[in-house]
Amino acid sequence: MYNIKCLNPISPLGMELFSDNYQVIDDAACANAILVRSASMHDMELGENLDAIARAGAGVNNIPLEKCAEKGIVVFNTPGANANGVKEAVLAGLLMSARDFIGGVNWVQSVREDPDVAKLVEKGKKKFAGTEIKDKKIGVIGLGAIGVLVANACNRLGMEVYGYDPFISVQAAWNLSRDIRHINNLDDIYAKCDYITVHVPLLPSTEKMLNAQAFEKMKEGVVILNFARDLLVDEDALSGAIASGKVRKYVTDFPNARTANMENVIAIPHLGASTEESEDNCAMMAVRELRDFIENGNITHS
Ligand code: MLT
Repeated sequence: MYNIKCLNPISPLGMELFSDNYQVIDDAACANAILVRSASMHDMELGENLDAIARAGAGVNNIPLEKCAEKGIVVFNTPGANANGVKEAVLAGLLMSARDFIGGVNWVQSVREDPDVAKLVEKGKKKFAGTEIKDKKIGVIGLGAIGVLVANACNRLGMEVYGYDPFISVQAAWNLSRDIRHINNLDDIYAKCDYITVHVPLLPSTEKMLNAQAFEKMKEGVVILNFARDLLVDEDALSGAIASGKVRKYVTDFPNARTANMENVIAIPHLGASTEESEDNCAMMAVRELRDFIENGNITHS
């Protein structure tokens, strides 16, 4: 019998893929494999029998990778399985930054008991006017599963899309998506774009990649979308860039005590992949990968 510990609830569609040779247990110390979503494992003891950790999601910064490597524990993730959910969240963030629906909806709530609410609406109409995204320029940094979907969707919404990824050539990116009009260098993207969206993993090389030097090169009034990880952005520099008006809005799926309290921040509670479909896809892919490793010795997405 193979012991599985789930650190977060995982979609039943994934759990159903375990055969009778697997049992779900409570005690992580006795587990042969751990299934995890976003819970941090950094302070956890890794049990002696632990062979594998399957992360139902893309980012693996909640897993102590070095410790796992030392102990020979294989770590899997599920790249692409939630890409459509995150893409749709990015589009919602993009549109919320251009059109003040949040302000407008909150305002209607505040006047909803007024018998003249219908008349007041005309006032709100002026107060919450926005801009359109069509013909605006967006820079997509990172052209993995999510970045490419975001780029294609923005193109279909009439935006001019600039893509950047240091790991793929212009030709490869062109083959991935003919909707990305230019593969350019970062400085060009910063100088040109009205919107910048980041879709890179959090690594020592990407930590604080959006820093004071980067903001300096950006267009006045740029909107930054971060549905990747909070530490990609240097918060001291962000705070200065918002105060000076360089950054008009910061949309983040990873708010913390600091960014949640900044002006002009749209803070979302890590909802990027929180859809039924993404949760099902990630859980099923994680369990399939785990079983393939345990039963056949195959290692995918580790
Ligand atoms: C991911 O890394 O896949 C995303 O942050 C979504 C999530 O874990 O909920």
